[in-house]
Amino acid sequence: MFRTHTCGELRLADSGKKVTLAGWVQRTRKMGGMTFVDLRDRYGITQLVFNTEANATLCERANKLGREFVIQVEGTVSERASKNNHIPTGEIEIMVSALQVLNAALTPPFTIEDQTDGGDDLRMKYRYLDLRRNPVRANLELRHKMALEVRRYLDSLGFIEVETPMLIGSTPEGARDFVVPSRMNPGQFYALPQSPQTLKQLLMVSGFDRYFQIVKCFRDEDLRADRQPEFTQIDCEMSFIDQEDIIETFEGMAKHLFRELRGIELTEPFIRMPWADAMKYYGCDKPDLRFDMKFVELMDTLKGYGFSVFDNAEYIGGICAKGAASYTRKQIDQLTDFVKRPQIGAKGLVYARVEADGSVKSSVDKFYTQEVLQTLKSKFQAEPGDLILILSGEDTMKTRKQLCELRLEMGNQLGLRDKNHFVCLWVVDFPMFEWSEEEGRLMAMHHPFTSPKPEDKALLDTDPAAVCANAYDMVINGVEVGGGSIRIYDAELQAKMFQILGFTPEKAQEQFGFLMNAFKYGAPPHGGLAYGLDRWVSLFAGLDSIRDCIAFPKNNSGRDVMLDAPSYVDQKQLDELNLVIDIKE
Ligand code: AMO
Repeated sequence: MFRTHTCGELRLADSGKKVTLAGWVQRTRKMGGMTFVDLRDRYGITQLVFNTEANATLCERANKLGREFVIQVEGTVSERASKNNHIPTGEIEIMVSALQVLNAALTPPFTIEDQTDGGDDLRMKYRYLDLRRNPVRANLELRHKMALEVRRYLDSLGFIEVETPMLIGSTPEGARDFVVPSRMNPGQFYALPQSPQTLKQLLMVSGFDRYFQIVKCFRDEDLRADRQPEFTQIDCEMSFIDQEDIIETFEGMAKHLFRELRGIELTEPFIRMPWADAMKYYGCDKPDLRFDMKFVELMDTLKGYGFSVFDNAEYIGGICAKGAASYTRKQIDQLTDFVKRPQIGAKGLVYARVEADGSVKSSVDKFYTQEVLQTLKSKFQAEPGDLILILSGEDTMKTRKQLCELRLEMGNQLGLRDKNHFVCLWVVDFPMFEWSEEEGRLMAMHHPFTSPKPEDKALLDTDPAAVCANAYDMVINGVEVGGGSIRIYDAELQAKMFQILGFTPEKAQEQFGFLMNAFKYGAPPHGGLAYGLDRWVSLFAGLDSIRDCIAFPKNNSGRDVMLDAPSYVDQKQLDELNLVIDIKE
């Protein structure tokens, strides 16, 4: 037997047992005639003791063990003289009687400790070593448990997991596709699925009724902390349901995951917020509701007093940071620099402090009387000690986005975004379309298969931009953890959607004919949702980036630095695929 126990298993009750352990050398310490070795595996650490008096040669060999050597030892479990109550095996140690080096190891390029000295790039290059570290391993264990709980919950409700293909056709909506050339069909390409959206809808036409799949999705888009080019969805679809059924089923799943994986019992129904309110009060469609700091619009209060920045604005709005009046000049200057950063793009920041005596001191005092400033104060119900921060701009949406960034930054600075406090919310009533400056046309805000609200159907012909969709997102702590919609299941309405999105009937038929045809053979009313598994895991693990819960992630340039992918392929492969590379400068 290679091992009788793991390195996390032995306790005081095992004293006297003869055991065999195997694992990696975490560290060795020499103290007098004794050598101590911490032996590590996935389950924990066990202390090994080599005693010169008992066996000098063995001890000598132990002294030569390097970090990360793979060894096997035999020995006897004994009670430790000085106990370590930080680890579960801390009451025992193994008096080693035999040692075998299974494999020597080079010195690792960074320390395999909870807090490592390795930078991001190095850790990614040697990801197999990084994965030996406890925190990273724990993230993958949590991911595994989450996938199990998802399957348990959905199975209990009669969902069945169906696999859909990874090589499908390219579609122009949504993000860019990753494409795969077909050798057998010269000049033609598959695309990797951005999601199994149309396939799961076809499964509904097939009568599967309750489908799910834990599935890889691929999107060629710019990366951020919560975005990877390949990521995993918990993709679900149901037939003969309405929006309430979906919300109930998947709020239930969220509560199940919180209970089983975080021990948190969420008893209240999740908050529901119309998209328009999210934009108006928080400046984004995924507000972090762990803290309040709602926007207050100030056009009526501050326009028309000769301060040209405000007088020329289309939007003036502010937030009230409780207790932040103590901010120094320097801190406010730093906030101003923050909102002026190119990624945010505000022109400046106006502040108003509520002093201890209730008076208001602002950075634009020369334009406003104390009376106006008192009105400002009452708009926020501000109290002595509060700091009001105001942004304005010529574009309402853009300015609200800037204010959203400022609100989140203030939330960070005031410690209001505790990672162990969760606020879950459904954002509902999304608009059906949004205008794309880049494309010069309307685009589906969710996707082209989303149904309009029945009461808005007539507007599709007259004012499509005003149509509301049967779409919903789940947002937790400012992270969009999932989204979905009730779908169109009528071929004619689906064709009309494509027409509004600027498709010719021929193009629509070419790209999505399979779906519209399927709808003609008895499609049930259906709808669904997809959760982002990576985002759920990182939320539960308190991670800043989803990278840390993915075994082998890509870096910010979309590269796998360990595999050195993507990479060039040789000419023979290109020839077989009928591909010619022509890189434009
Ligand atoms: P959507 O595009 O909103 O919907 O995706 C669903 C969820 O997937 C996660 N997600 C991502 N996670 C990591 N990296 C990415 N690049 C990434 N993109 C999306 C998010 C998101 O909420 N087919 C529809 C779902 C449906 O309508 O049923 C869809 O894909 O958590």
